[in-house]
Amino acid sequence: MKKTSPYVIAIDGTSASGKSTNAKLVASKLGFTYVDTGAMFRTLAWYCLKSRIDIHDPKAVAQLCKKWKTKLMCIEGKVRLLVDGYFPESEIRTAETSAAVPHVAAVPKVREWMKLKQRDCIDFGSLVMEGRDIGTQIFPETEHKFYLDANLAERSKRREAEGVQEDLAKRDQRDSQRSTAPLMVPLGALVVNTSGLSPEESCRLIIDAITEKAPEIKEACKNQAR
Ligand code: DC
Repeated sequence: MKKTSPYVIAIDGTSASGKSTNAKLVASKLGFTYVDTGAMFRTLAWYCLKSRIDIHDPKAVAQLCKKWKTKLMCIEGKVRLLVDGYFPESEIRTAETSAAVPHVAAVPKVREWMKLKQRDCIDFGSLVMEGRDIGTQIFPETEHKFYLDANLAERSKRREAEGVQEDLAKRDQRDSQRSTAPLMVPLGALVVNTSGLSPEESCRLIIDAITEKAPEIKEACKNQAR
């Protein structure tokens, strides 16, 4: 039987544009492994705070990132980055960690480290990976690139519904203007505006675009569902 190499579906976009919802849905429909790269940056931000490292000191953050003890694991179809054998699931979502993460994510050595780890995820098979630089920096070679966005009012409403008050315009600006791996539309990406679309509708657009380029994925999914 012909062995195909794993597929990578890259989903980038602004905060609260529906990246996680869509990436999880697409991964589940295609039977691919889901990777939330934001959670990896959040884990480092949490670990810096826990270790009392100054997040405004790029050298100190880079030093910590060089020596922390981590392991990638795939649990129920999702990749987790464990630190000292622990995945800080709730800790990485606190307001304190959210405020710290853009500083940590702007450190070039951190981004180099993350790139290697994120590329290692291919060992778990075909991936749906969400983030800010997946189509531009992590897997620029994939032909399945998506950039999600929605209008600011709708994105703010979504965050509020999750109980999070956040200045999204400020965060987008910081993510787009940093000098290393800024958020941008990857070359060749399909831009999906999720304003007014249900997750099922936007996910359908994404899956249709994937299977148009790679019809064999549709066949594989049909066989899997049998
Ligand atoms: O997607 P998120 O809100 O969990 O991301 C947390 C932060 O990490 C956000 O400020 C952007 C940053 N990030 C990044 O710089 N690159 C990624 N691939 C993923 C997230």
